[in-house]
Amino acid sequence: MKEGLRDIWDSIYKYFFVSGKKAEENQERPVKHYQPVIDPAELSDTATKMFQARPKEDASTEKIEEEKPWWDFAGHADSQAPVFDILQDDRIVEELNRKLDADEFPVIEIPSNVMKAMNILDKRDFEYVEITDLIRRSPAMAGEFIKAFNSALYFRGETITDLKVGLPRLGKENIKAMLYVYSSKMNFSSNVLFNTLAKQIVEHCYTTALIANYIGQDYYANPEEAFIAGLLHDIGKLGILKSLTETYEMPEEIDFEMTEDVFDNIFPSIHERAGEYLAGNWKINDSIKFAIRHHHDFNTMEGADPDMEEYHLSALVNLSDSMARILGYGRRISKTNIFETEAAKTISLEKNNHTIEFIGNIPAMLSTKAK
Ligand SMILES: [Fe+2]
Ligand SMILES: [Fe+2]
Repeated sequence: MKEGLRDIWDSIYKYFFVSGKKAEENQERPVKHYQPVIDPAELSDTATKMFQARPKEDASTEKIEEEKPWWDFAGHADSQAPVFDILQDDRIVEELNRKLDADEFPVIEIPSNVMKAMNILDKRDFEYVEITDLIRRSPAMAGEFIKAFNSALYFRGETITDLKVGLPRLGKENIKAMLYVYSSKMNFSSNVLFNTLAKQIVEHCYTTALIANYIGQDYYANPEEAFIAGLLHDIGKLGILKSLTETYEMPEEIDFEMTEDVFDNIFPSIHERAGEYLAGNWKINDSIKFAIRHHHDFNTMEGADPDMEEYHLSALVNLSDSMARILGYGRRISKTNIFETEAAKTISLEKNNHTIEFIGNIPAMLSTKAK
């Protein structure tokens, strides 16, 4: 290229491709080499550390516990109930056992109208209308039945306030069990000391009955029987309270809340036997009597036989009792995972998505039961 032409070309190049000043700068700028802050040899290790979570200086370092489902229960706090020396005395249980042996244990009185209703129910050809008037004579009793008609178990989309409509739906055996339980509760209606506790025990029994019936529909051949066994399972506690009021002088007033915890040295060791005694008096069938007697020791009792139907009924009541207590209906319960209990294993309630959903319905079912 000739000298003159080269100059023209350089001028055109600079004009179109590099602005004059920048071109100068570019030419002048020294070449800089990138100096990595981190030695590449350490990069992979450093990168891991770089993205490691680090709590903020002011953030709590406490680990947040994942919320567990209700059936995996951490256990209630220890009892706050006062301890009474006299109730810790083993002679009280000895005396209760003696009364049961000698057939001197108090039988809970059943009002005459309720007894008449029982007799009618025992007739082969009875009409529900025959017992309606008898039950109506006890407004409190009639109220309990109406509550049951409208509980989750029997609710069929319409509120029932008429005994004539509701009683046939409950069926003969359920009516009898309810008559016994609610008559027992009424024995304490004028007892200032034990009235509230008796109500709580019956509420626990009723909740256990609803759960036993619900689970029994899939895990027991006779869910109606499961309901009755649940309803009667702790009835012995009312018998014990009655016996104590008859044997010992009780204070007129107390300045603490009377709860089951007060009887921790008495109820656990003898309420099953007392319940079986009362159920025997009421001519309750043998399977239910067995479940009342063994709802706590079905798997450790002498002669425990997993092939027996009664064994399964006892396990079902035990399981329903635990669930009721976890859900706040009944006495304290220690750490319990429902699926890991002997009772769940006995009735073959295994943990899987279906059973988690199945028992998951129970709290909602209980919250819709009539209060
Ligand atoms: Fe019990
Ligand atoms: Fe119970």
